[in-house]
Amino acid sequence: MSNQDKIRELIKKREEAKLGGGVKRTDAQHAKGKMTARERIDMLLDDGSFEEYDMFVTHRCTNFGMEKQQILSDGVVTGHGTIDGRVVYVFAQDFTVFGGALSEAFAMKICKVMDQAMKVGAPVIGINDSGGARIQEGVNSLAGYAEIFERNILASGVIPQISAIFGPCAGGAVYSPALTDVIIMSEQNSYMFVTGPKVTKTVTGEDITVEDLGGPLVHGKKSGVVQYIAKDEEEGLMLIRKVLSYLPSNNLEEAPLAETNDPVDRLSDALNEIIPENPNQPYNVKDVIHEIVDDAEFFEMHRNYAQNIVVGFARFNGASVGIVANQPNYMAGCLDIDASKKAARFVRLCDCFNVPLLTLVDVPGFLPGSGQEYGGIISNGAKLLYAYGEATVPKVTVTLRKSYGGAHDVMSCKQLRGDINYAWPTAEIAVMGASGAIEVIEGKAISAIADPEEKKKYFDTKVAEYKEKFDNPYEAARYGYIDDVIEPRNTRFRIIRAFQALATKKDTNPPKKHGNIPL
Ligand code: HXC
Repeated sequence: MSNQDKIRELIKKREEAKLGGGVKRTDAQHAKGKMTARERIDMLLDDGSFEEYDMFVTHRCTNFGMEKQQILSDGVVTGHGTIDGRVVYVFAQDFTVFGGALSEAFAMKICKVMDQAMKVGAPVIGINDSGGARIQEGVNSLAGYAEIFERNILASGVIPQISAIFGPCAGGAVYSPALTDVIIMSEQNSYMFVTGPKVTKTVTGEDITVEDLGGPLVHGKKSGVVQYIAKDEEEGLMLIRKVLSYLPSNNLEEAPLAETNDPVDRLSDALNEIIPENPNQPYNVKDVIHEIVDDAEFFEMHRNYAQNIVVGFARFNGASVGIVANQPNYMAGCLDIDASKKAARFVRLCDCFNVPLLTLVDVPGFLPGSGQEYGGIISNGAKLLYAYGEATVPKVTVTLRKSYGGAHDVMSCKQLRGDINYAWPTAEIAVMGASGAIEVIEGKAISAIADPEEKKKYFDTKVAEYKEKFDNPYEAARYGYIDDVIEPRNTRFRIIRAFQALATKKDTNPPKKHGNIPL
């Protein structure tokens, strides 16, 4: 074969590989409204930046006549490229080849990019669209998954790992995305479950559809497994780019700075009016967030799950900041199991990737009741406490209104190494609300009063006394637990100043193998 023939052979092989499972299966993929693996990668990465590896890999299985079915690339497209000019590694499962099912060779391709990403300190993005373990390969496929899981675990907290679910993701295959930092799921064609409807019916008798068992609504709202639901694949791919814009490439770097024309000292008069006179009246904490962040741009995560707490990314003077805020508009902003888990995971995400934390507090306490206690609010609430307490990134807290009891301590208080803790004049920082407190400490005295009018008068007087003493920020400020009481309209400026002062903060935890967070 001449050299020119060799070059022609290469070009031909590349074309063959790019056909994946062939025209018919590609058409079927498109007919479902799905893109192919390479189309997804092209849309995800900066134009022309993709460098593909292992195009010529094929599987090595000889069971069930598989040796006669060899398809170049073997069902997964891997390589590296850039997003906003920064290097990322990527793998995209190709449903047109054996339904994207995972073989040993397929797994080794994924492991290769994960290993390289770890060496260079770059994020890994995985696009999932697969029938799971390649049945013909048996235990080799299971071993392949486990190789990936181990790498997911070792890479956790070192490089950002983002998963997209753009098709089936079932069985043990769900655990690779579950080990990553962020999961994005498209609204169409996507589902995730450990056990599908057929097995569910056989084992438990429950009759349930694919969507009801593991569709995007389930994971975006009920289980909280998925952080972002995209209306289609294109939006999902843009969300991946956006998430990465708030994160550094690895745990030794800082997130990139963005351009902004939003003045550092912009005052927000609206904030002086935002807290209702009636302490039981709600307001939307997202209105506060939009007022203070750069260009009113808040990239909320987990929007439909545990809406009593709001988490997401924003920027202050161009710098990426993670925001955690109680939401008075939903369940009065109380902390429950789901809110604690959601916020704890977000705090740890920010901490491991050097993204400073802003906490906006308006929390009446933990949600009471047997449902919460039986569900383990104690250990789940402790997750958030633990996450804040171990976080060493700059931590700025602003108490807007209520900050009661254990929830006060949990929400990044001073003693959990909160660096700068501000409060608005409307803050109420106390062990509990006035009525509840008086019922406890004055219960006997109140019961001893026979006349109902006298009883009410005594109660009201004591409540007023309690409010005078505790329903304000000054008692906490007197002890230095609050660094300053700030005028609401100055909040943006004060937060930016605080983060600027903390930019060189260094803090560590005692040396240990790892802590034992109450999982
Ligand atoms: C080998 C597979 C496959 C698999 C699909 N295919 N799944 N080949 N191993 N796991 C092949 C099909 O034979 C078919 O080949 C092609 O992919 C497309 O599949 P269809 O069934 O035609 O597509 P569709 O109707 O869209 O259904 C998709 C599907 C279904 C829902 C994913 O294929 C399915 O239920 N597959 C099996 C899922 C499963 O049970 N996987 C194992 C889970 S256990 P042709 O040649 O006809 O195009 C597991 C354990 C992992 O994953 C443990 C890790 C720890």
